[in-house]
Amino acid sequence: MGELVIRGQNRLSGKINIQGSKNSALPIIAAALLTDEAVVIDNCPAISDVFHMQKIISRLGAECIFKDGTMTISAGRLSSAPDFEYCRQFRASSLFMGVLLSRTGCFVMPYPGGCHIGSRPVNFHIDGLRKTGAQIEETGDEIIGYCGGLTGGEYVFPYPSVGALENIIMGAVCAKGKTVLKNCAMEPEIVDLCCFLTRMGAKIYGAGGKTIEIEGVEKLHGCRYTVPGDRIAAGTYMAACAIAGGNICIGGIKPRRLDAVTNILRKTGCHVFTDDKTDEIIVLSDGRRKPVAYIRTGPYPEFPTDMQAQIMAAAAYFSGSCRIWDSVFENRYMTAYELKAMGADITVDTDGVTVRGLPGLAGGRVKAHDLRGGAALVIAALGADYTVVEQCRYIERGYEDIQRDLEQLGADIRWRHAGDGTEESEFL
Ligand code: EPZ
Repeated sequence: MGELVIRGQNRLSGKINIQGSKNSALPIIAAALLTDEAVVIDNCPAISDVFHMQKIISRLGAECIFKDGTMTISAGRLSSAPDFEYCRQFRASSLFMGVLLSRTGCFVMPYPGGCHIGSRPVNFHIDGLRKTGAQIEETGDEIIGYCGGLTGGEYVFPYPSVGALENIIMGAVCAKGKTVLKNCAMEPEIVDLCCFLTRMGAKIYGAGGKTIEIEGVEKLHGCRYTVPGDRIAAGTYMAACAIAGGNICIGGIKPRRLDAVTNILRKTGCHVFTDDKTDEIIVLSDGRRKPVAYIRTGPYPEFPTDMQAQIMAAAAYFSGSCRIWDSVFENRYMTAYELKAMGADITVDTDGVTVRGLPGLAGGRVKAHDLRGGAALVIAALGADYTVVEQCRYIERGYEDIQRDLEQLGADIRWRHAGDGTEESEFL
């Protein structure tokens, strides 16, 4: 769409139902190729990463229809070479390795793309697939994998990688034999993928824990599955309320999945009420923002790295200093420079940022450089005078419509075609 124009100082109020989870939907779409029967995925978010996945699976030979939040996939015959150009545009394309080995016995694909938040190698993906019977070669800018049928095996993750675990699980569900995976990622998105695969007939034990066991089955069948709410999008709007002040309700989200975010927001003085029965979170903020001295991101259930930029934006308004360290990705502080351009007092050093809170920010013209950083600039603008956020295509990778959601909660925010800066001379 272009750029977002935000006039801050409005308190937020009202209720929204959160979109389906991007990081659950993407592996589930890939996993739908593991059967030649029809799969129906409800509450699938209408975001550009999902549209990319749709293009890739269509070019692999699957029939894929996406309408009103429901994606229907039928993967009869599949090719083994996903479209290189699309694969290079985002990280989730790496998830086709396990699926194609299982369905076709081979794959040829480029290294995946994705937000520039770190080196993001795929060595754990490759090591784990090798341990379950695949032969994989890396030839400069291609990865080639083949197997005469995956056999199962044992792999201990050097680090609890979300994507590598998803890949290896998808390869193992129809392997001949048992697979035992240790030091696994415990993110809710792993649980969602395993629920989906179990509904297709897979035999997976221990999802959400450090050890997962998979007994290979002959074949998987079609199913229907509803994607749970997006915990990072919900956390983004919770942080928005902490910045703008007000009283909001977010529906369609499992509150326990955001415990680490809720705990931090409560420390800053927000009142957060959760209801596990109605799947709702209520945030009340009177605008006072006590400082939190230190925030470290880490693998689930620690504070999520995907909320690091958003909590940095909130910290720009704390009544004190906050030290933030992202232990997951080594280069995820780019948003700090854009927040500084808005007037925030932030120092970036080799292993983190120090944010000294201010009563308000001026705003200005800033650029999104990655998905979550872009969202962080939008919510930071809710406490500033007047802000234009450019390059919003990054935000559209993971948020269905951040303008729609925040406007529904009372923010003064609108889309505009890039460069149409008619009225801003009085503000910028
Ligand atoms: C998933 O990325 C998410 N993406 C990311 O969300 C999220 O930040 C990340 O998990 C961590 O929770 C999707 O699910 C599509 P990792 P992924 O493998 O799987 C290193 C967003 O904003 N590593 O858990 O790529 C890696 O470099 C996105 O929605 C290796 O060294 O993350 C990183 O330092 C951003 N070798 C750490 O592990 C590997 O083979 C965690 O990465 C794989 C990973």
